[in-house]
Amino acid sequence: MTELNAIVESAKAAFGQAATPADLENAKAQFLGKTGRITELMKGMAALSVDEKKSRGAAINLSKQSIEAALTERRAALAQAELDLQLKAEALDVTLPGRKRGTGSLHPVSLSMERIEQIFGSMGFDVADGPEIENDWYNFGALNFPEDHPARAMHDTFYVEGGKLLRTHTSPMQNRYAVQHVKKHKAAMSAGETMPEIRVIAPGRTYRVDSDATHSPMFHQVEGLWIGQNVSFKDLKVVFTDFCHTFFETKDLELRFRPSYFPFTEPSAEIDIQFQAGPLAGRWLEVAGSGQVHPRVVENFGLDPEQYIGFAFGVGADRLTMLRYGVNDLRLFFDGDVRFLSQFQ
Ligand code: DAH
Repeated sequence: MTELNAIVESAKAAFGQAATPADLENAKAQFLGKTGRITELMKGMAALSVDEKKSRGAAINLSKQSIEAALTERRAALAQAELDLQLKAEALDVTLPGRKRGTGSLHPVSLSMERIEQIFGSMGFDVADGPEIENDWYNFGALNFPEDHPARAMHDTFYVEGGKLLRTHTSPMQNRYAVQHVKKHKAAMSAGETMPEIRVIAPGRTYRVDSDATHSPMFHQVEGLWIGQNVSFKDLKVVFTDFCHTFFETKDLELRFRPSYFPFTEPSAEIDIQFQAGPLAGRWLEVAGSGQVHPRVVENFGLDPEQYIGFAFGVGADRLTMLRYGVNDLRLFFDGDVRFLSQFQ
């Protein structure tokens, strides 16, 4: 039976050489397939006698079983090799240091806003929030803007659908807040009590058709309003001076109230500051508009201007941030460049 042994040996050799499962199946076909060598031997038995068939058949079967066993073994070996390869490729080195996810931080303007809220909060000011899409009444009408005021023109103000507009300042919050406050204390007031003072700041986004190194179509303001029976321009000076000293962490700072005009205040003043030391020393820098609230605006709150009086201011929060950190281009705040922003962590 050396012929059969030779076939088994060559099958084993062929299987051993098969490097992939596909190669192995091809090799298998050469021996066990329809025209494979074992199959051919089986077919060749037809001419043999019954006895010869018995012994030859048994021998061929033994060889076939050996080949099948070798095939099974090789299949398993190839499958294992494939698995090993895959496991190696997916290997996880648990000793590698993790990839760091950069931590974000608050935007410098947000840091300023928080600081402003905290400082005015410590002086007893409430913090109010209001809509950025406003109507004409709160943004202009209630604030005593005449019909033909240039701020009402399209080239200054973004108008949106339905006659609404993007608020051009945070001043509309004066009326929104004051009217609620008056409503809340209406009953007590008609019973002869005086109204608790209105003391509020309203920080937020504001919009104007304007864009250059110091103006952006979207910017930030903080409105301030203090109304009572005895609140004067002197109080405005005290409060704002205190605020500036705390915000900039220096008393080496002059304030100037420069006469100005706003429809909603009379008298009105721009507030300029001047540092006495540091890189900005010696220059007057405008930081806010302010004034004594106009009697007509007080009336629009639902209050008697003969009885209630006070002041308001609107401070540019981006401007304050630029001065505090020495940033000279407003656009840096809105570019979203991490190299710039990460300096404020
Ligand atoms: N709303 C003004 C502006 O956007 C700033 C301002 C000026 C606010 C005087 C005030 C104020 O409350 O009294 O330029």
